[in-house]
Formats: sequence, structure tokens, C-alpha cells
Amino acid sequence: MAILKILPNPFRALIIGSSGTIGSAFIELLKQNPSCTEVVGVHRHAEHPIDYQNPESIESCAHSLLRDSPFQLIINTIGILHSNDWMPEKKLDDLNAEQLIALMKINAIGPALTIHSFSKLLDPKNSIMVTLSAKVGSIEDNRLGGWYSYRASKAALNMLIKTASIEWARTKPHSALIAMHPGTVNSRLSKPFRGEQIGRPAIDAVTDMFAVIENLTIEDSGSFVSYSGEKLPW
Ligand SMILES: NC(=O)c1ccc[n+]([C@@H]2O[C@H](COP(=O)([O-])OP(=O)(O)OC[C@H]3O[C@@H](n4cnc5c(N)ncnc54)[C@H](OP(=O)(O)O)[C@@H]3O)[C@@H](O)[C@H]2O)c1
Repeated sequence: MAILKILPNPFRALIIGSSGTIGSAFIELLKQNPSCTEVVGVHRHAEHPIDYQNPESIESCAHSLLRDSPFQLIINTIGILHSNDWMPEKKLDDLNAEQLIALMKINAIGPALTIHSFSKLLDPKNSIMVTLSAKVGSIEDNRLGGWYSYRASKAALNMLIKTASIEWARTKPHSALIAMHPGTVNSRLSKPFRGEQIGRPAIDAVTDMFAVIENLTIEDSGSFVSYSGEKLPW
């Protein structure tokens, strides 16, 4: 039986967080892809900003894009690991409410509200929404401990994606919802953790991730996938 890939040719794409290292690399990659007829980028300093510190901006940004819709591919690359005020916790003693709340807000609540508000921009006939998660958000795969807030926020994000995908199987049966791990990428986010030494160039990571995205089928909806195509445990 033929495998039915979701992403059509041609397709139109929207990158959320296009100011980031991985987000801007997706823009660069898709601009060079002849199958991608248009790629639109939005971020917190865009004309119609999307700023997770201000949840109302999520719906207004989505609303501003209605006339550009439908998109067959939406990729959300927004996320944080550290700030000027704190770094990932190494031990329980480092745990604090401010950091936990901030990471939940940016890595879980914002992306979930984005799925809610941006789903109307998807092509109901065939479309994919990918949200970047992280392997360290896998509860089953947690062997090293530490990084409490980041791990918990990505685990919460994964649950929100999985739950929405179950609803979409009924309400949007031709749209897939995916949590994706980009691998370790040399970026602003990974820089304090030897990202320059151990991380790959963003363009290599997005090339791999796009190869996975191109081959997704509707049966893949609600899965946690690595840049290599491997299905990760939740
Ligand atoms: N790099 C890695 O090794 C790695 C590994 C696993 C998972 N990831 C995930 O991959 C995604 C992209 O990471 P990256 O490496 O590209 O990081 P990055 O270069 O730091 O980019 C992060 C993006 O998030 C945006 N952002 C941060 N706070 C925001 C807020 N309050 N509202 C709206 N946008 C906000 C940034 O906007 P500004 O440009 O305005 O700051 C930027 O567009 C994240 O979800 C991250 O957790 C990365």
C-alpha cells in the first residue's frame, strides 16, 4: 500500500520564532526549497508580534495572518533554557518559583496557546504543525537529573501536544501535530553549555528535521520525533 505523505507539493510555510537560531535557519532552508512557494516568519519584534510574556499577542498575531492562510506547514521554534537572572538548576536547592513559572510560561503555556490560536491557519486538507520540544523533556529518558524547570516545561509541552493530537484526530483528521527534538544545535540557547563545541550548525539540524517532516504521515500525529526520524519515548 502506498504511504500517504501529508506535506503537499507545492506548500506554504509559517515559522514562529523566526528570529531565533533554528527559526531563522528554517526560513533560510525553505526559501531555497522550490516546493515551498512562500515562507512567512513571525517573532516577538515582528510587525504583528508574538510574545509569550503577553499571551493576548498569540491570538492577535494569528489573526493578522488569516489573509495569508492557509499554510500546509507551521513550525514553532520558540523556547528558552536560561535568562540573565538564572541558569538551569543543578540540584533541588536551586529550585525557585520564578524560574519554574517563567519556563512553564514560555516553553509550555505559550506553545499550547499557539496550537489553539494558529490551528485556524492550517490547511484542513493536508497540514502539519511541528513544535520544537527537547529530548530532556522525556520522563522515561531522564537519566542524568537536573535542569528541573526546563525538563518539566518540555514534559508539560509534550503532554499538551499529545492531548491536542487526540482531539485533532476527530476534529482535524488531515492535520498532524508533532513534538520534535532538534538535537544539540549551536545556538544562543545552547551557548552556555558548550553549544559551540558539541552542537551542530543550525542549517544541518533544520535540513535533517525537514527531511523527517516531508515524510510524515497522518499516523505520525501525536508523536515525539527526533531530527533523525527516531520516535522518542514520552
Ligand atoms: N539549541 C539546542 O541545542 C536545542 C536542543 C533541544 C531543543 N531546542 C529547542 O529548540 C527551540 C529553538 O531553540 P534555539 O536553539 O533556536 O534558541 P534561540 O536561538 O535562543 O531562539 C529562541 C527563540 O525563542 C524566542 N523567544 C524567547 N523568549 C520568547 C518570548 N517570551 N516570546 C516569544 N519568543 C520568545 C526568541 O526570540 P528573540 O530572538 O526575540 O529572543 C527566538 O526566536 C527551543 O524551543 C529549544 O528549547 C534547542
